Amino acid sequence: MKTIKINLGDRGYRVLIGGGLLRQAGALLKEAGLDNGLVIITNPMVQSLHGTEFRNRLTAGGFNVTVLTVAEGEEQKSLDTAGRLYEELTTAYTERRTAILAMGGGVIGDLAGFVAATYLRGVPLVQVPTTLLAQVDSSIGGKVAVNHGKLKNKIGAFYQPRVVISDIATLKTLPAAETANGLAEVIKCAVIKDKDLFGFLESNISRIKEEAVLEEIVYRTAGIKARVVEQDETDRGTRNLLNFGHTIGHAIETTCDFRVRHGQAVATGMILVSRVAVKMGIFKEAELKRLTKVIAAAGLSVDKPALDAKKIIQAMKHDKKVAGGRVRFVLPRAIGEAFLCEDVSLEMVEETLNAE
Ligand code: NAD
Ligand code: GLY
Repeated sequence: MKTIKINLGDRGYRVLIGGGLLRQAGALLKEAGLDNGLVIITNPMVQSLHGTEFRNRLTAGGFNVTVLTVAEGEEQKSLDTAGRLYEELTTAYTERRTAILAMGGGVIGDLAGFVAATYLRGVPLVQVPTTLLAQVDSSIGGKVAVNHGKLKNKIGAFYQPRVVISDIATLKTLPAAETANGLAEVIKCAVIKDKDLFGFLESNISRIKEEAVLEEIVYRTAGIKARVVEQDETDRGTRNLLNFGHTIGHAIETTCDFRVRHGQAVATGMILVSRVAVKMGIFKEAELKRLTKVIAAAGLSVDKPALDAKKIIQAMKHDKKVAGGRVRFVLPRAIGEAFLCEDVSLEMVEETLNAE
């Protein structure tokens, strides 16, 4: 088992990464100071693939376990679903030390995390991420939220878990498209912070199904996220770097009514914003070629989708990353180094979006 410590004072915790960790979850939870009731919030897919054994192990370990399921899909990240969970929790909760375990992808992590942050003004939360995206990104750092209408993640909080248990073995049942979705965030982290991880991806991405390769990728990427969160827990500066590819990516998702998957939108956003950086003389064309090659090897499209440049620019202007009326972009300087820039010409971005 590999461990990453998140140093946030009394809100600090450990991210535990390894194959088969769910089998030892009882002991790991006790080590994290949890020894009472547990409420697992999950969805039917994750429950059927991994939930039963997990629950049995916890029950055998002496925990009093209740399982609550929510249906599949991003639309479940809503106040309505949170409201239903609060109702169910009133019967499941025997006392305040009972912890909520969010078992699933980012949707479950964000929703169950939001419920844990708000129920009884906050109850202990454990993240048990089962998608690559959730293991490298959403389970770490305490951002929990629900959507409001079309507005993504608008109602939320920063609420750190007590521990994150990332069982690499759960990723074996993940469809290829979900792995590719998570790899977009992995590539993002490598470009902004870690040229060695980028090199590792170049050499090993074709072996992504191997547990050892996945474990290394999750460990290194989660480590990058951990260090960024430690520096800027509440997203006022450095944490914005995690938005590399997301400014254009979110605008693509919004203008396409979320028909484009997040990972694909981020991948396209990373290529387009890097092309802008090449035009500005900041990033080398050869590095852009390396980035494009790794994105393709991850199973993501590198072709520019049909998009309406004017609508994308409008959507970016409405995004929450706009600071004082200026759209803020994360630009790569080299593989492994990026910076925040508010001086990008929107005309140049539009030209890049329109180019063949
Ligand atoms: P998701 O939670 O919808 O999961 C994707 C699919 O994988 C679902 O169908 C799910 O049922 C299935 N699944 C989960 N685990 C599985 C497994 N082990 N085997 C087979 N199938 C499995 O999507 P996601 O990409 O994990 O998360 C996306 C969400 O994360 C979005 O709502 C996004 O806003 C949020 N997010 C949050 C943060 C944060 O910091 N809080 C960061 C990034 C993304
Ligand atoms: N996923 C971006 C963040 O956690 O800040």
